[in-house]
Amino acid sequence: MPREDDEVIPDLTIEQKATLASGADFWSTKPVPGIRRITMNDGPHGMRVVGDIGIKSDKKATCFPPAVGLGATWNPALQREVGAAIGREARALGVDIVLGPGINIKRSPLCGRNFEYVSEDPLVAGSFGQALVEGIQSQGVGASVKHFAANNQETDRMQVSAEVDERTLREIYLPAFEQVVKNAAPATVMCSYNRVNGVYASQNEWLLSKVLRDDWGFDGVVVSDWGAVVDRVEAVKAGLDLKMPTATGDDRMIAAAESGELPEFVLDRVVARLQKLADRADASRLGPVTIDFDAQHELALRAALEGPVLLKNENGALPLPETGSTRIAVVGEFARTPRFQGSGSSQVPAAKVDSALGELSELLGDRVRFAPGFTFDGSAEADEALAREARSLAAESDWTVLFLGLPDSYESEGFDRASIDLPANQLALLETVSAVTRRVVVVLSNGGLVETESWEFRARAILEGWLLGQAGGAALAQLLVGRANPSGKLTESIPVKLEETPAYINFPGCDGQVVYGERIYVGYRYYDTRGLPVSYPFGHGLSYTEFEYSGLSVSATDSGASVVFTVTNVGEVAGAEVAQVYRGDRHSKIDRPVHELVGFRKVFLEPGESETVTIELDSRAFAYWSIARHGWIVDEGLFTLSVGASSRDLRLSGDVRLAAQGPALKLTQFSSIADWFADPIGAQVLQGAIAQLPDAHAFQLDVTTNEGKMFAAIPLGHLLTMVPQAPTGAAQQLVAAYEQALAGR
Ligand code: BGC
Repeated sequence: MPREDDEVIPDLTIEQKATLASGADFWSTKPVPGIRRITMNDGPHGMRVVGDIGIKSDKKATCFPPAVGLGATWNPALQREVGAAIGREARALGVDIVLGPGINIKRSPLCGRNFEYVSEDPLVAGSFGQALVEGIQSQGVGASVKHFAANNQETDRMQVSAEVDERTLREIYLPAFEQVVKNAAPATVMCSYNRVNGVYASQNEWLLSKVLRDDWGFDGVVVSDWGAVVDRVEAVKAGLDLKMPTATGDDRMIAAAESGELPEFVLDRVVARLQKLADRADASRLGPVTIDFDAQHELALRAALEGPVLLKNENGALPLPETGSTRIAVVGEFARTPRFQGSGSSQVPAAKVDSALGELSELLGDRVRFAPGFTFDGSAEADEALAREARSLAAESDWTVLFLGLPDSYESEGFDRASIDLPANQLALLETVSAVTRRVVVVLSNGGLVETESWEFRARAILEGWLLGQAGGAALAQLLVGRANPSGKLTESIPVKLEETPAYINFPGCDGQVVYGERIYVGYRYYDTRGLPVSYPFGHGLSYTEFEYSGLSVSATDSGASVVFTVTNVGEVAGAEVAQVYRGDRHSKIDRPVHELVGFRKVFLEPGESETVTIELDSRAFAYWSIARHGWIVDEGLFTLSVGASSRDLRLSGDVRLAAQGPALKLTQFSSIADWFADPIGAQVLQGAIAQLPDAHAFQLDVTTNEGKMFAAIPLGHLLTMVPQAPTGAAQQLVAAYEQALAGR
């Protein structure tokens, strides 16, 4: 690739150029004449400024909801605000680049890092990533969208090869990055540790140069994940700019530059990109800033209020009465010791942490009594005594709110989970408590999803609280008593059991490889296409009010289609609904999921209020990636657009007709006779050739007969090897005639 810029490259020696492309230390680059030091720190949901390889930081920061909680808000405007607040803290801490957001697809619920990721759906992940990056970068600092690409597990994460076909990459694992790159221009993209189809992401030219830069127009810096670079020279040649952390391998770079193995223009390219980065991602660019930690906490609370998903609410069990004499048993250690973020590089030294117990006690006074119910480490003897205490408390109370979830040791960056079950001691506690009262509400705290099928009948209501950051405890309390109305929706399907998840038989792979055998059928694309039951579908989430959908109209536009509908709050309290638009394609020439999310909008409505929503869809909303045609294809015909409250609660639908789009299939000698006849030029060429034959009438293709169908499926070249009259090279001649006709069209 030639030099892409017309900027003035600082006058540096080969050594300086060669060594610029790596960290000076753990968190910053080397200053060279003309290019200042650039600093970077984690992370996705708050700042973690540490001195070296350590995880724990003592620099106070606000812990916003991790991606699992913030993603479930389906509210890009709110996510943008959070991004800006993180950007402000980065500025105040002198950090030029925030290492986040992480937007990898949740391929399997077992991925230990799912709490740092957003969704099983690329549009939801991409919208989140775009909003976060826009917010962070509005503060003059840069973001680093990560981990590019196909990093969907922690097992063997530094080398495992994700074996994924190109269609699956283009339709599922890449579009979230594409959306962020095209719409939010992140200052940097962080490449992942793993290999993709055998080649390390850090030295994968197809990913880092072809897709990222040529196809999507990325003009920022590609930074490696920490320790992801295996061969620095190969990495830089492939399109990596900055190897992090530290400066190991500089001697190899210098030798390669001196020998010509690493051409100088490649180094100049790196220098130009880093120079540009130093200008655009600068903690001091917008001047000094002071942080109002109370205001940041208020925002963390607003964000946390919109993340929890009300999975079920039998007979309006929630909200709990805020006034009156109802006695409430709060049971479960999570109420007192909240789990509000996950372990690993994203761990924020939270400025302050609210507990649900503290907040509920404040709201409800001495009507609230507490029992811890279980230990996080599951010590059997202690758990039995705690369960007995909780049972007595539940028996004496009108309602029991059970705070269950995954202790910290169950999930983290660095390893995957082996199961999606809640810990046995907590399930035993639920059984014990529900034996003495039917008035049980379960509140969950977990990063990766948990199975609910085996125990949900014991709870009248379930509020899935994910991990919600430092204000999560207050948010849960306010939702439980109806001071706020739940409006989170599932960004991932909750399966009936682990064994039914689409990646189950392939995850996490073995012998250094993980095969993405389920292809594009990830999450609801799999369950809904196969018609399998799920415990709670993608997009699901109840409210304390009800919404009605009406007046759908769909129409074709120049670039795609326009969807218009009205949502009305028909209940008694104010609330928010995430209206979702799914596209079905029954006439497609290749297999496709029964439907796919193509748009969504969160609307906030007072009781009785309506809002008319318009969602514009471009042609990509209808297209699939064709490996054979190497591009995005829209097949001509009718597409169904459905609107509703989840992937399984579609209330309205309409059809729209679109014309064919995308590169045509080029015929070869390996194309079938059917393909040749289906192509107008191919058919003409073939018919012309047949007409030359003395017994032309014998070559009639009737695909209504079994014989005809069998014949139609044979590739042209293969067929001609069986036709005695066919001269040597006949197939090549036909292909040449076809190409000539195509060119002359
Ligand atoms: C993680 C990244 C993180 C980096 C720096 C790596 O282990 O995968 O997400 O930004 O460390 O802490």
